[in-house]
Amino acid sequence: MTDAAKSKFTPRVFSGIQPTNHLQLGNYLGAVKRFVEMQNSGVETIYCIVDLHAITVWQNPGDLRNATRELAASYIASGLDPKRSILFNQSQVPAHAELAWIFNCVARMGWMNRMTQWKDKAGKDAEKASLGLFAYPSLMAADILLYHATHVPVGEDQKQHVELTRDIAAKFNHDYGVDFFPMTEPVIEGVATRVMSLRDGTRKMSKSDPSDASRINLTDDADTIAQKFRKARTDAEPLPATLEGLKDRPEARNLVNIYAALAETSPEAVIGEFAGKGFGAFKPALADLAVAKLSPLAAEMQRLMADPAEIDRILGDGADRAAAIAQPILDRVYDITGMVRSRRR
Ligand code: TYM
Repeated sequence: MTDAAKSKFTPRVFSGIQPTNHLQLGNYLGAVKRFVEMQNSGVETIYCIVDLHAITVWQNPGDLRNATRELAASYIASGLDPKRSILFNQSQVPAHAELAWIFNCVARMGWMNRMTQWKDKAGKDAEKASLGLFAYPSLMAADILLYHATHVPVGEDQKQHVELTRDIAAKFNHDYGVDFFPMTEPVIEGVATRVMSLRDGTRKMSKSDPSDASRINLTDDADTIAQKFRKARTDAEPLPATLEGLKDRPEARNLVNIYAALAETSPEAVIGEFAGKGFGAFKPALADLAVAKLSPLAAEMQRLMADPAEIDRILGDGADRAAAIAQPILDRVYDITGMVRSRRR
C-alpha cells in the first residue's frame, strides 16, 4: 500500500467465516482468536458470518440456520463483544450481493480459474459445480471492499483470495479512473495460521474433512478432546531440543504449534519445556491445556445457544450498523459505474 493510500483510508478490519459445520480448532486459533485480539487493540472491527458463501455448496436450510446462530455464539463466547465489533450475517446486508455483481463484471474468468480453493472444491467435475462457487472470490472481495477495509485477518489458505481482492480493487480503480477502493492487506500472523489435521500432518485441519478424528471441534467435550489428541498421529521420537529438529516432522510440529497458540507462547518456549520428552508426556499436557482453554468456551456457547432470539437480535443490530457503512459506499459505486438512481427512498 502506498503512503497516500494509507492516509486516505482509515484502518478498518473485516473478516468472515462460513457457517458450515462446527467451528474447528484451526478456525479458532487462525481466525476467531485473532479477531478478538484485533478488536481489543482498539481498531474498528467488522466480523461477518458469510451465509451467502456457504450456499455455494449445498446446505440443508435448517442446518444452515442453526450453524449461523452457533457461529455467532462461538464468536461471542470467544470474546467478541457485539457492542465494540460489528457482528452480523452477510445475507442481512444485500449490498454484499449487489457489489459482488459489479465485481463479477470487473473480475476475469481466468483469475477465478487460477484460485486453488476453486480447483480443490470443484475437483475434476467443474461442470457440475455451482456458478456461485466459481464466483465465490468476487463475493469475498465485495465483503471486504464494501467497507473499505484495510486489513483482513485470515489463515494462510485465504491469502490468494485477499490478493485477488486487491486485483479487483485495482482494476475497478483503473477502469473507472478513480482512487476509490483501498489495497487491502491480508494479516496472516502467529503460529496458528495453518493448523494441520491430527490424522495427517500434510493436510490442513478442516470443517469438511470426512474424519471427525482429524480435528478438534469447539463443541467437543473434554473426553473427546483428550481422546483425539491421544490418537493424533505422531512419530516415535521424543521432542527435539530445538525448533530446527521439527523440520521434517510435520505432525510433531503441528502439535507444538497448537500448544504454543493455546498457551499464548512461542514454539521455542514449548520446545524448551518439553525437549527430550516423548508424546506419552506431551499429548496429555496438550489435551489438558486444550480442555482448560476450550471447555469454558463450549459452556458459554451452550448458554448463548439456549436463547436464539437474543442471537438473532444481536445479528440484526450488527446488520443495521454494517448497512449504515456499506450503503453510502455502494451508492458511490453505482454512481461511478453510471447507474441512474432516481427512486425516492
Ligand atoms: P472459512 O470459513 O473456510 O475459514 C474461516 C477462517 O479460518 C481460517 N482457517 C484456518 N486457519 C488456520 N488453520 C486452519 N486449519 C484453518 N482452517 C480455516 C481461514 O483461513 C479463515 O480465515 N472465504 C473465507 C470466508 C470469507 C472471508 C470473507 C474471509 C468470506 N468473505 C472476507 C475474510 C474476508 C472462508 O471460507 O473461510
